Amino acid sequence: MKEKKYIKLIEEAKAAAKNSRSKYSKFSVGSAVLCASGKIYKGTNIENASYGLTNCAERSALFNAVSAGEKNIEIVAVWTKSGSVFPCGACRQVILELAPQADIVVNKNAKDIIVINIKDLLPYSFSGKNLKRAIANCE
Ligand code: THU
Repeated sequence: MKEKKYIKLIEEAKAAAKNSRSKYSKFSVGSAVLCASGKIYKGTNIENASYGLTNCAERSALFNAVSAGEKNIEIVAVWTKSGSVFPCGACRQVILELAPQADIVVNKNAKDIIVINIKDLLPYSFSGKNLKRAIANCE
């Protein structure tokens, strides 16, 4: 699948990787998200000497979009030099919460992309629905 909008978003994600702050891992990641508004928001990975405080590129991009008031995030793109890098587990959980319908697009190599829906990347997920059910059972 090589839809133009996916390829454009991968290019934006690649541009975002230029700002990567990854002096510990030396692994630059760029992300870009497309919203229903038509706007694109970018993010990159930002590492910290206290490693656990690192923010992945995907979450940086998502938080940028949400902070700007976006309600509907349709596509999340991820770019790395090596290619075929899919969002980590933490990012999958955050994507499911903030962009539950989203297609995820990653660069496979210089020519190809891979597209998969977040629901397929995180099956049997935990979500707000579980909390609602638990609260209802207590009432
Ligand atoms: N990283 C991302 O930004 N996104 C991913 O999908 C995988 C991992 C970052 C976190 C860290 O800065 C570096 O890559 C190595 O794990």
